[in-house]
Amino acid sequence: MWGFWGAAAGSLPLLIAGILFHLEHSPTVELPRMAKDIQAQDEAFRSMNRTCFILGATGETGKELLKEIVGRRLFSKVTVIGRRKLPFQDETYEDVVQEVVDFEKLEDHAAAFQGHDVGFCCLGTTKAKSGEAGFIRVDHDYVLKSAQLAKAGGCKHFNLESTKGADKRSSFLYLRVKGEVEAEVEELDFERYSIFRPAVLLCDRQESRPAEWIARKMLAPVSYVFPTAFSVPVSTLVKAMLNNAVFQSDKKTELLENKAIHSLGKLQETKG
Ligand SMILES: NC(=O)c1ccc[n+]([C@@H]2O[C@H](COP(=O)([O-])OP(=O)(O)OC[C@H]3O[C@@H](n4cnc5c(N)ncnc54)[C@H](OP(=O)(O)O)[C@@H]3O)[C@@H](O)[C@H]2O)c1
Ligand SMILES: *[C@@H]1O[C@H](CO)[C@@H](O)[C@H](O)[C@H]1NC(C)=O
Repeated sequence: MWGFWGAAAGSLPLLIAGILFHLEHSPTVELPRMAKDIQAQDEAFRSMNRTCFILGATGETGKELLKEIVGRRLFSKVTVIGRRKLPFQDETYEDVVQEVVDFEKLEDHAAAFQGHDVGFCCLGTTKAKSGEAGFIRVDHDYVLKSAQLAKAGGCKHFNLESTKGADKRSSFLYLRVKGEVEAEVEELDFERYSIFRPAVLLCDRQESRPAEWIARKMLAPVSYVFPTAFSVPVSTLVKAMLNNAVFQSDKKTELLENKAIHSLGKLQETKG
């Protein structure tokens, strides 16, 4: 009896290591395009005078995304749509347009969603923060309604920040709601639709989320050995979103899993 459990316990670390190794080295379903020259891509994209909006620009991902968009000067007009006005001190943000909306009455704010070529949605809350109903309200209802208004307003490329493991058939509420909204936005039939499924985001979050903090600390050594399996730095994610956007794509719907996000987000670091 003990011999069995002893052996089982002894092989557990090996098993975990095996799973980790598998996750880290599992083949990427679709490899991102090679970056010959991101700068040239950026330049070509700039010359098209595209406009964009960001939802969730006050969040960890959204604010990094906004910073990167403004820094790379990719769009001729940048609009942030949110529930509160941001106090931009930095003059690099002086041209950013702010639309303050009431998400409970989004229909009344259809105009805010008009005239943007590209949309980025980084909205989200958690069950811990907003309760189950609140979570569904934000991560499903607000996201879907925003996507509908954006589509009606002429948006051609919609980018959705979802999550690793999103699955409309999941028994976990979080993953199921994410999977459902992914699928419902797809039905809106954007010319181009990119879904990002990052794993745990690595960032220095201001507000305290103990569970996430512990997860991040525990993941740190794992992330070091298996950098792409469980986590992704927010800076890599936002670069991936923009590198993806500046490339033309003949795919209508793109699904970018964590590993692809890593590769796409690090194109600037690759030579050649
Ligand atoms: N954190 C992770 O490890 C992780 C991993 C994978 C995927 N994701 C997903 O990625 C997305 C972004 O995550 P994040 O950590 O960057 O988000 P975050 O920092 O929590 O920011 C969330 C954004 O959504 C807005 N928001 C939340 N509740 C709202 C409400 N009731 N009405 C209007 N706006 C509301 C926030 O606006 P205010 O500033 O006004 O509150 C903020 O701009 C989420 O969908 C999340 O599920 C996160
Ligand atoms: C983009 O804007 C610039 C400057 O306003 C203008 O010269 C150029 O023709 C515009 N390009 C397109 C494709 O609209």
